[in-house]
Amino acid sequence: MKSTESLLSVIGLKKYFPVSGSLFSKRKYLRANENINLEIQKGETFSLVGESGSGKSTLGRTILGLYKPTAGKVIYRGGGEEIELTRLNNKQMRPLRSDLQIIFQDPYSSLNPKMTIGQIIEEGVATHKYYRRGTPQMREYVLSVMDKCGLQPESLHRYPHQFSGGQRQRVCIARALAVKPKFIVCDECVSALDASIQSQILNLLSELKEKEDLTYLFISHDLSVVRNISDRIAVMYLGNIVETGTAKQVFENPRHPYTLALISAAPSVKKSEKNEPILLNGSIPSPVSPPKGCKFHTRCFMACEICKRIPAPVVEVEQGHFVSCHFAQKSAKEKRVIAKNVSLQSPQI
Ligand SMILES: Nc1ncnc2c1ncn2[C@@H]1O[C@H](COP(=O)(O)OP(=O)(O)O)[C@@H](O)[C@H]1O
Ligand SMILES: [Mg+2]
Repeated sequence: MKSTESLLSVIGLKKYFPVSGSLFSKRKYLRANENINLEIQKGETFSLVGESGSGKSTLGRTILGLYKPTAGKVIYRGGGEEIELTRLNNKQMRPLRSDLQIIFQDPYSSLNPKMTIGQIIEEGVATHKYYRRGTPQMREYVLSVMDKCGLQPESLHRYPHQFSGGQRQRVCIARALAVKPKFIVCDECVSALDASIQSQILNLLSELKEKEDLTYLFISHDLSVVRNISDRIAVMYLGNIVETGTAKQVFENPRHPYTLALISAAPSVKKSEKNEPILLNGSIPSPVSPPKGCKFHTRCFMACEICKRIPAPVVEVEQGHFVSCHFAQKSAKEKRVIAKNVSLQSPQI
């Protein structure tokens, strides 16, 4: 299962998008990711959670080389040697594309409606030259991948519109799996599905992870999804990671005030972990001009003078559990007491 072999290292990663301002004003940037540091271990499910707009998808795409980072680097060790992905151009990246796959939230818009399921799955297989189109070996291989993903052989000649949302997501998984990946970014890949279908797809993903030796970066705004499938979790706020730890550490001993608020607001997190609702001030500020000091201070029930002026340091509160807060050492219990005495609004998730 889990190992402590690092598959990917993300070091000081930044991704800024230019925003169009007026002709005479200084160029402005939307800071989608800022100073991101993380390690993803081989064989683990590492999850990113946080409100919409916190920078999760941007981070997933920048790690995969789909966006060029503004600064920082990503190191990949899937082939034995260390490769700095962020230094590769498109041509150098091509042979690694099969290792690094992504599955999106909306399977319909990412499937070509004019292609059959068989053609969709074989496309990448042919591109990466595992088998040639039209050969019995290709057909047999595509059918075996479909079988692994719970798709019937009759689906081979059908089109995406003939399937339900859950089945279409199986097709997307099969397409990704067919090129023999090592690392898959699952970006809100069950968020559009009904709860019962959601759990079927999550079960399929965890089954495939074991059988095919995969590592996932699982992105979701929904904490209840992440709770059961993650080995480790990173909580994002306004482009920064504010807390990282094992799923148990983050849910049972949350230390960042934002994590506490997220957990308390999640509809299907266990009652014993939720405690009293924690209310946050206002809404998420603009990533173009984020607050100075700790970016969370404008919404935080703990905010003091220091938070307004100085960015919070990263503190290791227990082994492998990192929190970026001036009050990282205060326990979840102490923080809940403070939150209870401050009356503000509900967080918008
Ligand atoms: N291609 C892009 N160009 C400009 N801004 C973008 C682009 N992609 C995302 N953003 C902005 O970056 C921020 C983070 O977005 P995103 O990574 O999609 O967050 P999340 O996945 O957590 O909802 C948002 O403010 C979003 O509007
Ligand atoms: Mg997203």
